Amino acid sequence: MRRPLVITSLVTLLAAACGGDPATTATTDTASADALAGDTADDDTAEADTTPAADTALPPEVPLPEVWGPAVAADENPLPGVVEVTLTAAAKRVKLGGIQLDMLAYNDQIPGPTLHAKVGDELVVHFHNDLDQPTTIHWHGLRVPDAMDGTPRVQEPVPPGGDFEYRFVLRDAGSFWYHPHVRSNEQVERGLYGAIVVEEAEPAQVDVERFILLDDVLIEGGEIAPALATFMEQMHGRTGNHLLINGQLDDPLAPAVTVGHVERWRVLNPSNARTFTVGFVGDNVHWRVMGTDGGLLPEPYETDRLDIAVGQRYDLEVRYDGPGEAAFVTWIPTVNAQNQVVDAELPVVTLDPAPSTALATEAVWPSALPLPDREPNVDEQIAFDVVQGEDGNLQWRLNGQSNWRHPIFTCGEGDTVRLVLVNQAGPEHPFHLHGQFFEIVRRNGVAVTGEPGLKDTVRVPGLESVELVAYMDNPGQWMAHCHILEHAELGMMAEVVVEPAE
Ligand code: C2O
Ligand code: CU
Repeated sequence: MRRPLVITSLVTLLAAACGGDPATTATTDTASADALAGDTADDDTAEADTTPAADTALPPEVPLPEVWGPAVAADENPLPGVVEVTLTAAAKRVKLGGIQLDMLAYNDQIPGPTLHAKVGDELVVHFHNDLDQPTTIHWHGLRVPDAMDGTPRVQEPVPPGGDFEYRFVLRDAGSFWYHPHVRSNEQVERGLYGAIVVEEAEPAQVDVERFILLDDVLIEGGEIAPALATFMEQMHGRTGNHLLINGQLDDPLAPAVTVGHVERWRVLNPSNARTFTVGFVGDNVHWRVMGTDGGLLPEPYETDRLDIAVGQRYDLEVRYDGPGEAAFVTWIPTVNAQNQVVDAELPVVTLDPAPSTALATEAVWPSALPLPDREPNVDEQIAFDVVQGEDGNLQWRLNGQSNWRHPIFTCGEGDTVRLVLVNQAGPEHPFHLHGQFFEIVRRNGVAVTGEPGLKDTVRVPGLESVELVAYMDNPGQWMAHCHILEHAELGMMAEVVVEPAE
């Protein structure tokens, strides 16, 4: 069930021109290009200066394609195969859409810097907490060792002024993201999240690669509204009244695009609770879904609209086959003047392809790994419900408990679990399992065909059931929770244990 809401900024949104505050908006291709060009130059110099004989035998590193979107974090390590960055979380007072807001930022950026690497690389993150509250960083979707997973289950949250070093190998290519796992409903809402791009060994050959982070924020009385203050927010999670598109408030992105080009878009929904329905309008833009949470699909597919639940990512191929204004839009249920619920069509990215005489591009996509073909050997079920807690707040539960220190089930490394999620109440839950991938096989007992590929997050609509096949290949102590951050905060978070194989 989706709750209609009045977008207070609808008029602004529909009339929006360019021109967000440059200090706060996402970085353009120029800055990304600089960051990457800088890295490449550093690599060359360092190798030439410090490694005379042995390393000259190494094959030259294939440079990563540029990613248009939030500025990429500078790689501080000249070695190929290692990406080493520093992330500092701190408060940031930002002017967004003419409003001064108390936000939180990684490296002074909202969204935080994009982390950009290649599959098989080691990622090292020197994290420093300059917030006035504890925090962690969780690497959503990455199959890291559990000690690096950034949950309070596996690490003591980093206190104000504290540091933590995250270090792990990037096992899977794909589009991922990072965010805190402590008071995440407040910290993510205020801007603590960023994109992670793990390129395939042979990255897709396209004209441009972009990362679009489509968020919403709730602004009331000129401030980000206080957390969990209303029954509606406890019940449905926080849905915002403003869009935040790569850090720009109610201001669609407007990249320069060219007729004949093919682009790779990586799209993430980092909002607290809203499922975004997205698609393209315009006659000459064609698109298809190339990848999901777990990487590229063996069989890409076409659709008119795509529902992106909180936490999910999609890789899209976008082609401009001719001139004419077009847009990447989101459809949001809105109450109109007659008090009817209608879908407002809001632009997220406006597109006006420039003519070109060059030949149209043929994109070359790396071949996707085949999906696992494994029969489940374990059956598990998780029931989702809600009760009134002793403190008067709603208490959201998984199998009757609200305790992430307690395993909801235990299985073995390499197990294939048939996992049935049963939603016993009205609100929807985007369920997220850490450290593993799964496929969505049935909804309400009926085989699903429209949601192919590996996922780490799945929508479980109100009073419905979803059957997953989960590939439990990463041993450790993992969290499994609703990604409506208010629900997670109010108890809808449990542990799943994967015992290591002998
Ligand atoms: Cu996106 Cu448990 O997290
Ligand atoms: Cu939920």
